[in-house]
Amino acid sequence: MEASMRLEAVSASYDGKPALQDVSLTIPSRRITAIIGPSGCGKSTLLRCMNGLLSEEPGAKVTGEIFLGDRPISALPREELRRRVGLVFQTPSPFPFSIYRNMTYAPRYYGVRDKRRLEAIAVEKLQMAGLYDEVREDLGKSALKLSGGQQQRLCIARALTVEPEVLLLDEPCSALDVKSSAVIEEMLTGLKERYTIVIVTHNIAQARRISDYAAFLFNGHLVEAGPARELLEQPREEETRAFLSGVYG
Ligand SMILES: Nc1ncnc2c1ncn2[C@@H]1O[C@H](COP(=O)(O)OP(=O)(O)OP(=O)(O)O)[C@@H](O)[C@H]1O
Ligand SMILES: [Mg+2]
Repeated sequence: MEASMRLEAVSASYDGKPALQDVSLTIPSRRITAIIGPSGCGKSTLLRCMNGLLSEEPGAKVTGEIFLGDRPISALPREELRRRVGLVFQTPSPFPFSIYRNMTYAPRYYGVRDKRRLEAIAVEKLQMAGLYDEVREDLGKSALKLSGGQQQRLCIARALTVEPEVLLLDEPCSALDVKSSAVIEEMLTGLKERYTIVIVTHNIAQARRISDYAAFLFNGHLVEAGPARELLEQPREEETRAFLSGVYG
């Protein structure tokens, strides 16, 4: 198993209050890893540590070491880290521009000027996110006019425009109906051929359907991690069993 990212004894706190404690976790390359756990256990904090966002938040402190490949992320320039490790938030957050401009924004920022190249990136990534057929006639339309499920796929497509290695998704389906969630699940399953995916989900059935590896967080601690089938079907730890049986809601 090739590691794409590795966390070593990572702890995080907000204004001195611990949110993650001593988490060591390997994220395998080109697989889907699901992070599960009750509300407030540190799932979003973990994702924000992984792309360096948290260490920039006032009052937040991160210790331990996180590796991308074999390099500590603390040694990477911030922009490089953001480009290589993309984060998609829970609430779809398209820029208030056209679909096309959402898709070309980051490539332009990173210096792509050629119109045909920009268009090719937009089309390719919209296709990968399973959105192109739905919007091909409307690329000039405001992204805010899309449905919630379409907006979320646009945000994923947008994240892909800079060719990240790792894609972090924080509950991407929590605001979506069953049909839109199914479309996103199918898309993610296709994307793992090219990208390492980490998905926070409160939906255990979703984790069972799409994840290869899973990690269970509880009160800021990593209780267990391993192949999804084992963790979700035959957890080793009592706390994991209790969570999976619905004790913590
Ligand atoms: N910006 C912040 N400032 C202060 N405390 C925070 C901040 N963000 C999170 N916390 C606290 O850190 C802990 C972990 O929060 P986090 O958002 O990572 O949990 P979560 O597992 O993502 O929860 P949820 O399932 O509700 O999204 C919680 O106690 C939360 O109150
Ligand atoms: Mg969260």
